Amino acid sequence: MKEFKRYLVTSALPYANGPVHIGHLAGVYIPSDIYVRYLRGRGADVKWVCGSDEHGVPITIKARKEGVSPQDVVDKYNKIIKDSFEELGISFDIYSRTSSATHAETASDFFRLLYDKGEFIEQETEQFYDEEAGQFLADRYITGTCPHCGNERAYGDQCESCGTTLNATDLIAPKSAISGSVPVLRKTKHWFLPLDKHESFLREWILDGHKEWKPNVYGQCKSWLDLGLQPRAVSRDLNWGIPVPVEGAEGKVLYVWFDAPIGYISATKDLTPDWEKYWKDSDTKMVHFIGKDNIVFHCIVFPAMLRAHGGYILPENVPANEFLNLEGDKISTSRNWAVWLHEYLADMPGKQDVLRYVLCANAPETKDNDFTWRDFQARNNNELVAILGNFVNRALVLTGKYFDGKVPARGPVTDFDNEILSQVAASKKALEDYIEGYRFRDALKEMMNIARLGNKYLADTEPWKVYKEDPARVATVLNIALQITASLSIAMEPFIPFSAAKLAVMLGTEPLSWELLGSSDILPEGHVLGKPELLFEKIEDSVIEAQLAKLEAAKEANAAAGFEPQPQKEPVSYDDFQKMDIRIARVVEAEKVPKTKKLLKLTIDTGIDKRVIVSGIAEHYTPEQMIGKQILVLVNLIPRELKGITSQGMILMVEDHNGALVAVTPERDVRQGTTVG
Ligand code: 2FM
Ligand code: ZN
Repeated sequence: MKEFKRYLVTSALPYANGPVHIGHLAGVYIPSDIYVRYLRGRGADVKWVCGSDEHGVPITIKARKEGVSPQDVVDKYNKIIKDSFEELGISFDIYSRTSSATHAETASDFFRLLYDKGEFIEQETEQFYDEEAGQFLADRYITGTCPHCGNERAYGDQCESCGTTLNATDLIAPKSAISGSVPVLRKTKHWFLPLDKHESFLREWILDGHKEWKPNVYGQCKSWLDLGLQPRAVSRDLNWGIPVPVEGAEGKVLYVWFDAPIGYISATKDLTPDWEKYWKDSDTKMVHFIGKDNIVFHCIVFPAMLRAHGGYILPENVPANEFLNLEGDKISTSRNWAVWLHEYLADMPGKQDVLRYVLCANAPETKDNDFTWRDFQARNNNELVAILGNFVNRALVLTGKYFDGKVPARGPVTDFDNEILSQVAASKKALEDYIEGYRFRDALKEMMNIARLGNKYLADTEPWKVYKEDPARVATVLNIALQITASLSIAMEPFIPFSAAKLAVMLGTEPLSWELLGSSDILPEGHVLGKPELLFEKIEDSVIEAQLAKLEAAKEANAAAGFEPQPQKEPVSYDDFQKMDIRIARVVEAEKVPKTKKLLKLTIDTGIDKRVIVSGIAEHYTPEQMIGKQILVLVNLIPRELKGITSQGMILMVEDHNGALVAVTPERDVRQGTTVG
């Protein structure tokens, strides 16, 4: 494997249009902080850059909604995000901003160089233009009726009701969200990066050269590449962003995804005059930490940009994570279904490490994962308090009691002592392999394993029982327990740095270098320890209940605010209604349709016959919950084939305010086959 001289670590630049939540932390910032703290502990030459992503349409929309300028929006959230990261101990070397002068110049020069080299294609396209407002409209600024589901409030890029991705021109009766007027199509010129030109290079570089990337990242790249790359527009008609530095491009700015990754370069420039060493020397290992929605930009678009520019290195790895859910539901900014970092810090003072610990333990490294407040409590009480805190406390308190808080002398050691010490020593290599392989959950378990070993050691040697008879043996045991504690303090630092620092004070040491981890001679005999204190405290039910109540309130507020009944449909005659044969039926069998997430195959007794209906309810009902239930069924719906099964009819369901499907059932049991009307 190639040895690198230095590291450049980047973490996705958060959009400055809202605060940071636990999903961002678990996906990107906690893993990258662990990685960088570990590298620093090893004395590596590492620079870690991040900052606010301050351009793009969502910021202009937020500003318009709040009646302030886009600059006000980004100033506000940049501060909230930066301060909360700092308080959580996220230790960037710089937290920069894409509205900085360095960035404007860097991104502008980058574009211009590509332009001058002929790396772009210029193309005229037709886009919606608001004649009243006198501006082109980003897709998000156009609303209309969804051609798929009839939702009248669909956006030009997506219908949030049925989830379909749209083009603004697909909308029926499009309207400008700025003036309400009907937009017209107008010709406009844009610059496109011909990704197709870089496709064969990217295939080789990723698919052959980086087979070690995480399967989720590699797989996503492969499917993009297999679909074939298309030119991508890198400019927009918008008045917020970095002006396109080309004659005749008035009113046009760089597309936010063109300038944002260049933000990593500008941040490095602001950090060190030596920035080129980190970006242009092949001895630098560059690693991008991102969430899964950013994979294409970091693995395909940005590398193509860097290559088109020339002179830049490409990332060695892009360890993207999947998403974190909250209490079983997707985190959603608009529904306020999130645990916001700045609120957590205010609600739980001094508990930074608990959040860091829990988010690392649950990091969505290989699949989407769930955060629950009950799990948060359990991990604190059963792991941090009962395992880690308990071991450290016992080692220090016993030394205080028997040896006046000084590291006692180590006498002859037993095989058991050696066995424990060698297991602690082995954890150093395991931790290194896990962290360098971006397996932070496993690394965290390995760190906890040191505390577990310490507990086992004390439980088996029982110094509190032996002291009277054999104080010399207890001196050896506590000397060893303290060496393990010192190793633990080193291993803790990347994950739970506040507690590691507290422990270093209790041990009476400066923070110790990574290389000492696993050594049995970290603390010399006679070394004076500090005062023992509790590292973690139990979290009571009431604290968790308060957090759950907060989420419940968000849910209720949403239900009250967000419910917009569908407009009444076209009138129908009684005869029309009579055509629909809706009956009471009972589910007699139910099973999941193999290889699908959503489908249940139900056998139902309609009173007329027993038949099969395939229904998309598997995420809402288990087969067991459906069996025996009386339901309403549209029995004369024309049968259709679903996953090779003929579905004969439709079960009537409603969707609640959280998007969960709820079966419609008669108020009391009635005979199967009774018609509804
Ligand atoms: O998805 C996001 O939040 C983007 N603001 C990430 C940008 S990463 C980088 F390219 F700047
Ligand atoms: Zn729709």
